[in-house]
Amino acid sequence: MRITYLGHSVFYLESEEEKIIIDPFLRGNAQAAKTPDDFTELTKILVTHGHGDHIGDTVELAQKTGATVFCNHEIAHYLAAKGVENIHAMHIGGRFGNIKMTVAHHGSGIEEDGQMLYGGNPGGFVVEIGGYRIYHAGDTALTMDMKLLEEERIDVAMLPIGGNFTMDLHDAARAVKMIRPRYVIPMHYDTFEVIGADPNELKVPANVQRVVLKPGETMQLQAKR
Ligand code: NI
Ligand code: MN
Repeated sequence: MRITYLGHSVFYLESEEEKIIIDPFLRGNAQAAKTPDDFTELTKILVTHGHGDHIGDTVELAQKTGATVFCNHEIAHYLAAKGVENIHAMHIGGRFGNIKMTVAHHGSGIEEDGQMLYGGNPGGFVVEIGGYRIYHAGDTALTMDMKLLEEERIDVAMLPIGGNFTMDLHDAARAVKMIRPRYVIPMHYDTFEVIGADPNELKVPANVQRVVLKPGETMQLQAKR
């Protein structure tokens, strides 16, 4: 199983069965290590919320690859109107197959032509892939709901650390203590001036490994069944 960080909150997860991209903000993302042209095959696209730096290139990637987009009901409605055919709508707390949607405290409005469209509630995802459990927090504040993730036995947690719009380093460190993952990958920092942060400053307990990936870098996990 491979996890590639593509900058901001974009992750590409690959196993023998799946090719999943999360929050594919590629065009317009100065950190992005890839463009939509680099993806010809995807099984799923996960969208945590309606903000442009998360919906990103979802429409183009979905149309090109035929991947199923997993998102909340309101974003599903928006994407269907854009011509996306394979969409799986779900909501917070729901699990379908290997995907579970989790709580995030944030916004989810979709900006379009100077208008703000209703994008439902923001979320995060727990993804089971290659025998591992991955948690992508989306954009969120620290929340007690993260304590519930402890029982999910998360292997890898992707947590925002940039502050201003989400948790900062201090709150992300508290989130790690609640979730107790094996690995934590910092995300959502340095893309914009107001979310500057040094990922190496994320404090983690001794039994948790901090994995700082530069955009384009991959973390490899042994196949597990
Ligand atoms: Ni956001
Ligand atoms: Mn964001």
